[in-house]
Amino acid sequence: MRKFVLAVVATLAFAAGALADNFPARSITIVVPFSAGGPSDAMARILAERMKTSLGESVMVENVTGAGGSIAVGRAVRSPPDGYTISFGHLGTHVANGAIYKLGFDLVSDLEPLVLLPSNPMIIVSKNAVPAKTLQELLAWLKARPTPAAAGTAGAGSGSHIAGLYFENVTGIKLQYVPYRGTGPAMNDLVGGQIDLIVDQTSNSIGQVRAGNIRAYAVTADKRLSSAPDVPTTDEAGLPGFHMTLWSGMWVPKGTPKEIVAKLNAAAVDALNDPAVRKQLENLGLQIPPADQLSPAALGAWQKAEIAKWWPMIKAANVKVE
Ligand code: MLT
Repeated sequence: MRKFVLAVVATLAFAAGALADNFPARSITIVVPFSAGGPSDAMARILAERMKTSLGESVMVENVTGAGGSIAVGRAVRSPPDGYTISFGHLGTHVANGAIYKLGFDLVSDLEPLVLLPSNPMIIVSKNAVPAKTLQELLAWLKARPTPAAAGTAGAGSGSHIAGLYFENVTGIKLQYVPYRGTGPAMNDLVGGQIDLIVDQTSNSIGQVRAGNIRAYAVTADKRLSSAPDVPTTDEAGLPGFHMTLWSGMWVPKGTPKEIVAKLNAAAVDALNDPAVRKQLENLGLQIPPADQLSPAALGAWQKAEIAKWWPMIKAANVKVE
């Protein structure tokens, strides 16, 4: 019996090794939990384009939207643990949603961390018609309104929603959230004046701010961004300590062989070290993690720390979802 078990284990190990040796043998899919054209989609497509060079196989992006990104993550969790399905996400999808939705899966134990990705300071932006030029004037306008202002989000639990909750928390204002399938479409309505503001990822707003199509009030970083030197920090704008950075990451289904995790991690790290890719990401205001934070284990530890940090605020907000 002992010989039989050892034979089975050896066969499985050999199979896993063989699987990894031949990986990838076909195209890989990165499941992005928000609409095309938004900040998550933009980052995923930049990385996918470079990862295919290292992996020698095409890397596709599939946008699966809804429920603050949790439908996409669920799709990845239920995919075979063979490295061909990657779950792209961030603080919202892989931390906040666990405190808001009955997911039917566990964000830590049902997924294998792959790599921590660039982070995005948030930026407070409004439609140009808002009668305010500074953050203090915006807060006065928000507090004086008879009804809450319409704040665009990518759904309950998304980064723009968590940032909105945090903004309400530190200022005492009330917002009326307008959910979209991503901040890409939300931005179109902000430019069009259908909604009043977004607490958005800088990478999504920076182009419209530079074009003068929307107004920026402050970035939630402790120092100004080289990609937006004219926009004050929240400290400078009179909201000291309101700091938030939306980090992203990639995961694979639990049980994916570690050799395959290592290959995918290496391809992502190659992409993040590629000068042309870094230029694209930095031009969007994205901050690339240091090398010692690019291991799968580093993402795992960071995700757990962020769950401990954010869940109390999110649970206290008592977010209602259908
Ligand atoms: C997006 O890509 O639309 C964003 O990541 C959404 C969000 O979390 O605010």
